[in-house]
Formats: sequence, C-alpha cells, structure tokens
Amino acid sequence: MSDALEIPGHLTLAPGNGGLLKAIVETPWSHAEIYLHGAHVTHFQKIGEPPLLFMSAASQFAEGSPIRGGVPIIFPWFGPRDGFPAHGYARTSTWKLTETCLLSNGAVTLRFTLPSTDGFQVEFLVTVADSLLMELSVANRSTEVAQIETCLHTYFQISDISAISITGLEGVTYLDKVAALSHSESCPIQISSEVDRVYGDTRATVDILDPGFQRSIRVEKTGSDSTIVWNPWIEKSKRMADFGDEEYPHMVCVESGNVAGNAVTLAPGASSVLGVRLSSF
Ligand code: BG6
Repeated sequence: MSDALEIPGHLTLAPGNGGLLKAIVETPWSHAEIYLHGAHVTHFQKIGEPPLLFMSAASQFAEGSPIRGGVPIIFPWFGPRDGFPAHGYARTSTWKLTETCLLSNGAVTLRFTLPSTDGFQVEFLVTVADSLLMELSVANRSTEVAQIETCLHTYFQISDISAISITGLEGVTYLDKVAALSHSESCPIQISSEVDRVYGDTRATVDILDPGFQRSIRVEKTGSDSTIVWNPWIEKSKRMADFGDEEYPHMVCVESGNVAGNAVTLAPGASSVLGVRLSSF
C-alpha cells in the first residue's frame, strides 16, 4: 500500500485488528476507521457523541470472514445462497484503496475498488465529514445482462433497543422474515423481539430516535428501493459465534439497498449507484 495515499494529520494507514490494514481518518468534526478487508467502515464518531456505528466485541477480523458491525457491503446477492457465502463476497474480499483526497472544507474522501468481480467494476466512495457519506457504484462490464442485489448493512450503536423508535417506514409493506408473512404498520417501529424485515419499494429517509443517547440518527439514501431492519434478539444472538450474547440491546441494523423484488438489472455497459448519508442530531 502506497504511503502516497496517506494525508498527514488527516489519514493514516496502519495495521488494525487481526493485522488487517485500516485507514484512520480525522476531520474537524469526526473520526472514522475503514478496513481494506471488505472496504468496511468499522467506526464513525462525531466529536462529543457516542460512536454512530455498533461494532461487536466478538467480531472476527480475518481474511475470508465478515466483520460483525460497522457497515458490511453486501454484493452481489443479499442473504443466503446455496454453496456460496451469505450476503455475497464483497464483505470478505480485500479491496484496493485507489485514491484519497482532502477537500477544502476539511472532509476526507477515500475511493476503494473491488478486484476480480465477475465482469463488474465495483467502487466504494466514502466521505468522512460531519456526516458519513457512502456510495457503492457497480458497472456491468460484461456482454450479458446481469442482476445484482446491493446493500449497506449498517449497524447503529444505540442506548437501549427497548427505548428507541424508528420512523419513516410507516405504511410501507415489508416481508417479515421471522413470521414469514407480508405486513405493514402505521406506527413508528418499536422493537421487543427478534426483527428481520425487508421493506420494499421505499426511498424514505429513516430516523432512529434514541432518547437514552439524546440523539437521533438519520439515514438518507439515493438509488435504493429497499430498507432492511434487523435485530437478532436473545436466541439468535446466542447462535451467532461472532456476536456477544448480551450485545443485542445496544445495536440495530437499518440497511439501505436493493434486494429481492428490488434487485437491479444491469444491461451491458449500464451502472447503478447506491448512496447513503448517515448523520445525527
Ligand atoms: C440481515 C438479514 O440483513 O443480516 C438477516 O436480513 C441476517 O436475515 C442478518 O441474519 C445477518 O446476516 P449475517 O450473514 O451477517 O449473519
């Protein structure tokens, strides 16, 4: 990795957990860390606030294994696939950091590319500022029509799962993967058991209201028609080797992407961009 990608006082490259290389970013408003393994944002914290992103203390940091927490990049499929890794190979691949830039306002951008991608050109652009902006772009460089699923599987750190509410998805039909039925609700989401929901055909901004941290988190997105809400609760937490049994009250995933019926069809030469901005107030 070239030292030329470092920006003195703003961006350093250093070995992180498991010896995996990470970029450490400092801006006037925030700190962030991004592993080249998965182009995985593991940390974003505004000065004076708790971390925005939840990271499991039980996470693995190893070649070939996904990181549990932060922002796993899900591509080119979402969920399980027979004989292949769940949620695709982007999150377990080592990406290349190809460009870094200090903007005149103090924000820092990093561009990652995913090597060897079955005819896809995949890039991930991260802008660290007072908010965290992430853009996943996929271009179909093959001669065949391709169908892809994409998702930024964002884990948020919250004070207490029982106290938060999630707004923006009222009236949107979702597939409830726990109860295996479709449903919609007119009230904000409150969580008191395992939740695994795929909301379809929605471009809505979602807010997580967290009175315990006296903070609201805003998830704004572009180029995304699906939102997934997930908390494993007690029994599923116990079944997950890379997630602590007592960690579920402190996290919730609100994931922005294009999955299931919202999968993206890319003609040869076509491309699509999934953009997500995370902010807090
Ligand atoms: C969510 C899925 O997006 O990811 C859940 O909807 C899944 O079904 C969860 O359990 C975690 O997946 P993984 O592969 O990281 O354990």
